[in-house]
Amino acid sequence: MKIVALLGSPRAQGNSAFIMEHFLKAAARLGAETRTFALNALRYRGCQACYACKKTADQCVLRDDLAEVLDAVREADVLALASPVYYGDVTSQMKAFIDRTYAYFTPEYITNPANRSRLKPGKKFVMVLTQGHPDEKTFADIFPRYTFFMQMYGMGEFYLIRACGLAQPDAVRSRKDVLDKAGEVAARVCNLN
Ligand SMILES: Cc1cc2nc3c(=O)[nH]c(=O)nc-3n(C[C@H](O)[C@H](O)[C@H](O)COP(=O)(O)O)c2cc1C
Repeated sequence: MKIVALLGSPRAQGNSAFIMEHFLKAAARLGAETRTFALNALRYRGCQACYACKKTADQCVLRDDLAEVLDAVREADVLALASPVYYGDVTSQMKAFIDRTYAYFTPEYITNPANRSRLKPGKKFVMVLTQGHPDEKTFADIFPRYTFFMQMYGMGEFYLIRACGLAQPDAVRSRKDVLDKAGEVAARVCNLN
């Protein structure tokens, strides 16, 4: 089981990174191979809408730091994204990555739903979301919005680990419920229950 994890927060040791680390350690104990990219440390641009990936190439033609990340996700069994909520959505670092996954769509993704994705089917998707707002109903739209697109890429299992009411960078460390949930999701992703 290969897990590729992307950290979307500029805080290397912040809440979302801590939850992801907990999830990855639990998965590694269960035999998973894990690889993590801290997006904030990379230099890359968002999608340029050049459509080269629909006309002349089967991958994104931008050869910046995200090229290696996009290749690693193609090889992975599990894509795990961690992001704090910024203005009701994922961070700009994470959103730019998501836009670049446009290269995973085939040229005929609109007209032929049976052949939409260049990714092998059945990957699992894990999302870690942290937010300052304490109410779980607020920003509950983020996970379904992105699972919609991950389904179009042929992904088959979807897991959310969410923590609300976290203002300080270390606030999650005392949230046993969230860390327990990260362990549970690791077990499910690794097919233990
Ligand atoms: C620029 C910015 C925008 C934010 N926007 C929101 C928001 O819209 N809703 C919210 O609940 N929290 C918001 N927050 C708070 C973070 O989501 C929260 O502190 C989160 O736990 C940080 O996670 P991290 O430690 O992994 O970076 C924002 C924080 C920053 C710096």
